[in-house]
Amino acid sequence: MAAVSGASAVSLADAAAQFPVLRNRSFDGLPVAYLDSAATSQTPDAVIEAMTSYYTEHRASIHRGVYPLAAEATDLYEGARERIASWLGSTVQETVFTANATAAINMVAYTWGRSNVGRGDLVVLTEMEHHSNIVPWQLLCQDREAELAYVPVGDDGVLDMDALDELLARGPRLVALVHVSNVLGTVNPVASIARRAHDAGAVVLVDGTQAVPQMPVWLPDLDVDFYAWTGHKAYGPTGIGVLHGRRALLEEMPPFIGGGHMIRTVAANESTWTDLPGKFEAGTSQIAEAIGLGAAVDWIQAVGIEAIHAHEQALVAETLDRLASSSEGRGVTVQGPLAASERGALVSFTLEGAHPHDISDILGSGGVCVRAGHHCAQPLMRRLGVPATTRASFAVHNSVADVDRLIEGLGRVRRTLRLD
Ligand SMILES: Cc1ncc(COP(=O)(O)O)c(C=O)c1O
Repeated sequence: MAAVSGASAVSLADAAAQFPVLRNRSFDGLPVAYLDSAATSQTPDAVIEAMTSYYTEHRASIHRGVYPLAAEATDLYEGARERIASWLGSTVQETVFTANATAAINMVAYTWGRSNVGRGDLVVLTEMEHHSNIVPWQLLCQDREAELAYVPVGDDGVLDMDALDELLARGPRLVALVHVSNVLGTVNPVASIARRAHDAGAVVLVDGTQAVPQMPVWLPDLDVDFYAWTGHKAYGPTGIGVLHGRRALLEEMPPFIGGGHMIRTVAANESTWTDLPGKFEAGTSQIAEAIGLGAAVDWIQAVGIEAIHAHEQALVAETLDRLASSSEGRGVTVQGPLAASERGALVSFTLEGAHPHDISDILGSGGVCVRAGHHCAQPLMRRLGVPATTRASFAVHNSVADVDRLIEGLGRVRRTLRLD
């Protein structure tokens, strides 16, 4: 097999120095305080090097060529799949490359969904879903005249389990939920929800987009049917995502996109399909991107997902503490669970008297990058009774100095908008 990224054990401090954008860009002599990894993470050198190596040393099309260069490229692509699958406790057959998490969820909605959801059936979502785990199910339910219902979110930012049980008692076909909310930071008890949903006869899809980059995820423990995530939030390139699916379901599902590579035979009027996961990977694959994602997973493993998780939880705790105790945090309402140990690596908040876009703009003018808006979660914004929030999210490269910059920046927001 051709050489891969060659990651070795890396300390958090060393890892933090491995992001070219953060090395190359500064702001008025200060480093950029990049607090937007929940939108997209920065890319470590190892990922860029792995992709460059494909383009400069191994470039060829995969799967079809038998000459050495093509075999190397195929090994790199399939090797990435093997390492990604084994990292999360999945198998090669159950690990499908997609364009992103959105494409992965749509694939399930169009294939499993169109074969298994009919008129009057119930599909259960939660109020804290990203649009990519809402709209595909709306399209399915409209198409099939099926019903969509949402598990409510309590004032504590946690799902209402009694309401879930009531919905499960109605025998839904599917329960689709997010693992870690991109707005509230809530970490949902996926294994226990999956158990209850399975007892009720439902198939379970989990959007693991925010979970995979920041906490240990072991799919056999979660025992869900589909688990979707995206590469660009997990230190990987854009344009690549993953759908892990239970083999028996993937075998039964019709293909999503038809074309090259996904077939076994093509006759004039019909075709047969190749084995998993190729059946769901029509056309020329995102070869460099898959190789890059494999390198990202190697890199995360070299740093250690437990170390990453502990580091980010400490930064969340520091941020919550500073927002609650400092003069800069006056008038701030934090959304989601209040204990850092119960949330993912982000803090969304509103500040009385300030629009989130103004906050983000003023923070940005001081080199502090945070996201403002509805975060592709309009139903959740309505539930929270706010049009938008400001969100600071953390990754390997962040430090307490970034929290300092955020809090100082809020002081600047207060002065600029004359909130005091
Ligand atoms: C929780 C969650 N799910 C899904 C997505 C969609 O990811 P992508 O646009 O890469 O498909 C996002 C991106 O913001 C997200 O935060």
